[in-house]
Amino acid sequence: MLPQEIIRRKRDGQRLSPQEIAGFIEGLTSGTVSDGQAAAFAMAVFFNGMSRDEAIALTLAMRDSGGVLDWSDLPGPVTDKHSTGGVGDNVSLMLAPIVAACGAYVPMISGRGLGHTGGTLDKMDAIPGYVSQPDVARLHKAVLETGCAIIGQTAHLAPADRRLYAIRDVTGTVESVPLITASILSKKLAAGLQSLVLDVKVGNGAFMEKSRDATALANSLVEVANGAGLKASALVTGMNEPLASAAGNAVEVRNAVDFLTGRFRDRRLEDVTLALAADMLQSAGLVSSNQDGMRRATETLAGGRAASVFGRMVASLGGPADFVEKPERYLPKTAVELAVKATGNGFVTGIATRDVGLAVVGLGGGRRHPDDRIDHAVGITRLLPVGAEVRAGEALALIHARTTAAAEAAAATVLSAYAVGPSKPAAEKTVIRRILPRG
Ligand code: URA
Repeated sequence: MLPQEIIRRKRDGQRLSPQEIAGFIEGLTSGTVSDGQAAAFAMAVFFNGMSRDEAIALTLAMRDSGGVLDWSDLPGPVTDKHSTGGVGDNVSLMLAPIVAACGAYVPMISGRGLGHTGGTLDKMDAIPGYVSQPDVARLHKAVLETGCAIIGQTAHLAPADRRLYAIRDVTGTVESVPLITASILSKKLAAGLQSLVLDVKVGNGAFMEKSRDATALANSLVEVANGAGLKASALVTGMNEPLASAAGNAVEVRNAVDFLTGRFRDRRLEDVTLALAADMLQSAGLVSSNQDGMRRATETLAGGRAASVFGRMVASLGGPADFVEKPERYLPKTAVELAVKATGNGFVTGIATRDVGLAVVGLGGGRRHPDDRIDHAVGITRLLPVGAEVRAGEALALIHARTTAAAEAAAATVLSAYAVGPSKPAAEKTVIRRILPRG
């Protein structure tokens, strides 16, 4: 069928058959569908949505636009997690080694920062020598030998998604539940996973600010993944404040190493990481209950085995062999540090989290244009959490910048992002909702 006929049917609110969807995606991959046709298709889906069956067909067609990784020689279950993105969200750096140290294999194919949110790949690139985009053979070796590899997407996985995503990015068609679902899941299916846990963020630092939207996305991801043959569950977790007390690239890696070695752990970050680990272990079949998973993950972390897996993964992918022991020797630092000082006494009652993420972008730690080079050293540390007590003149956060002017601009943004009031607010839940596999 002609691409324009498929677009017309979707424009008029009709349901597309799997054959029509596969044909359109084939044309997208081969180039017979033009950018204009792809944009019109995305806009028609944006306005008219897709049924679950259509979303499953779209996901499978995008998966089949490229290769699928084969892990059949691994002696254990292959699993991963995907987060919809937030600020100070360095969960992946701890989660992959915790779950690997419990006996799973985690080829964690992650993305770069998007908008105000940080990207796991950018964080790993802060480690000197670390090859974040290895070829398939090196990826395979790292996963087999260490249990996990946190890396970027290779060119041959879901190429149709890469083209469609780039077109959506510039045509106002990113925020569509079926398109986001198919985009995320086609890449995860191409990674050859046996199970997947989704961390759908909700709040003022997430792409989904409302609980209803986050839950709709989480349900769509779980149902479409299950329909496409991938066992999946989801947690909806809070993003009304940064998850770690650090936001940036090198600073979040340092925070992750401190977490793994037990030197310092942010409480909310620990809650989310262990909850996701428990779900991953359960869906991978390594534990019989969620409580068991929580116990295994907590013991593995406390025993230092996850720190050791992280260190071996870094070395296997070209980073320093003693990175976990001496992160300060290797991570880049800035010359300028500036404390953001509270102007009154009270409690932190709220944080405009998106603005904290934007302050990191403003420092150079994120991109304004897709091909910008980012500065891995800049960022923010010692971010006080909501509920913390503070006195005038005490630090709300510490800015790491290249210049005094950049530090002052970021400090002004962070200061206005913090609300300080007279009474301590009730603590918000970190794990808000759990969506179990269907069927
Ligand atoms: N992340 C993706 O990979 N795809 C989307 O569409 C949105 C977020």
